[in-house]
Amino acid sequence: MPNAVIVGTQWGDEGKAKVIDYLTERSDVIIRFQGGANAGHTVIAEGKKFVFHMVPSGIINPNKVCVVANGVVFDAQQFLLEIDELKTGGLSVENRLYVSDLAHLVLPYHKAQDQAVESSMGKSKIGTTCRGIGPAYADKASRTGLRVGDLHDWDYFCEKFSKNFENKKQIIEQIYNGTLDIDLNTTLKEFKVIRDRMLPFIADTSHLIFEAYRQKKALLFEGAQGAFLDLDHGTYPFVTSSNTISGSACSGSGIGPGAIDHVIGIVKSYTTRVGNGPFPTELNCENGEKLRVAGGEFGSTTGRPRRCGWFDSVMVRKSIQINGITRIALTKLDVLNDFDEIKICTHYEINGTKCQQFPSYSRDIENVIPVYESMPGWRCELGGCKSFDDLPDNAKAYVRRLQQLCYDVPALIISIGPDRNETIEVEPLQ
Ligand code: GDP
Ligand code: IMO
Ligand code: MG
Repeated sequence: MPNAVIVGTQWGDEGKAKVIDYLTERSDVIIRFQGGANAGHTVIAEGKKFVFHMVPSGIINPNKVCVVANGVVFDAQQFLLEIDELKTGGLSVENRLYVSDLAHLVLPYHKAQDQAVESSMGKSKIGTTCRGIGPAYADKASRTGLRVGDLHDWDYFCEKFSKNFENKKQIIEQIYNGTLDIDLNTTLKEFKVIRDRMLPFIADTSHLIFEAYRQKKALLFEGAQGAFLDLDHGTYPFVTSSNTISGSACSGSGIGPGAIDHVIGIVKSYTTRVGNGPFPTELNCENGEKLRVAGGEFGSTTGRPRRCGWFDSVMVRKSIQINGITRIALTKLDVLNDFDEIKICTHYEINGTKCQQFPSYSRDIENVIPVYESMPGWRCELGGCKSFDDLPDNAKAYVRRLQQLCYDVPALIISIGPDRNETIEVEPLQ
């Protein structure tokens, strides 16, 4: 299979992990390149469910190499928890799972800071996952962070950790009125155990990826979050703290753009969002609740109910632009099985003027009015459908209309259920 980057095109939780797992069979190396344990990636295969926050979603395929690359903010505790669960389930990760020495560590004080900052913001809070993502990326940018490779030199790690700990304590307690309720020495002792377990996984992953590339191995880059949570292009400040778009696969893994053959945009058949911020097509009515229940729309990381709304083609068009999407994987079509009428947002109106493009400046998004067209539902199960032609006529018409509104980017996959088997492959990647 050609080298491909998988990205979310909306506000995350589009079903990226399901598609990654599906494509892993034809890939050799699966690479997580940004975000951290804020991600919640669900894979269901052979009746078993896995939720990954730190470990790449390709891991359940026993012969594949998985990499957590430099662009990730790395939560070692969460990582070890996940590999323990995999081992309990009989899956070995030895000699096929690597973590970049350049990835920045998410440390306990980052989580405390995340929580304290959120609490101090009251009503205007972002609604973060409180996994310490923002503070860890901020420390990386301000050059005070600790990296996975720093675990090699324990004395150096302890010295830098202790200094940061004292600074953070002041910031958290004196500026944000929060608490850093952990003891420095106990925390370091606990971290030493984590450190000893981490050492065998640490590698120069950009070299590893380059060697795989030279050997013409198939690389699959696993994005987290979605385009509208991107730090630059998303609905700022209601975004995450990394670049979530496809370009980030290069800086976040240390490979040049020439290595990427395809960008696969994961598109949910409707729209969801967890956390605060604008959401033009949000449904605060019966239909929103119906989507939430039918789609099981509760956050995989925090368990929060996801906000739900109709498909917003204005958003997905922007995603196609900023990601350079070459193929679409449309997910969760089955969630719409029980609707008589399904709406699609074709464009917005701003102050009475038609607007086809997502506003660049995010505060303008608060003022858009979505304009919809209606499509008839299909009111039946999709379970037996193995090809596009098997879909009911109204479902085919819905998919075709979405594609038409999305620059006619060809579909790769249509997903009709959470299980690996519930997947229609429209046209394989060449
Ligand atoms: P990700 O963060 O993009 O990987 O997505 P999540 O795993 O957070 O959320 C997607 C949810 O939808 C998970 O519970 C998946 O098991 C589920 N899912 C994925 N594809 C489909 C589908 O086509 N139909 C249905 N009904 N569920 C799906
Ligand atoms: P996956 O990879 C959905 C959201 C949070 C919050 C904002 C900032 O599963 O699609 P953060 O903790 O990153 O500082 O929170 O981003 N968020 C996600 N929403 N899916 C995700 O990941 C998310 N990761 C972060 O809810 O609004
Ligand atoms: Mg998710």
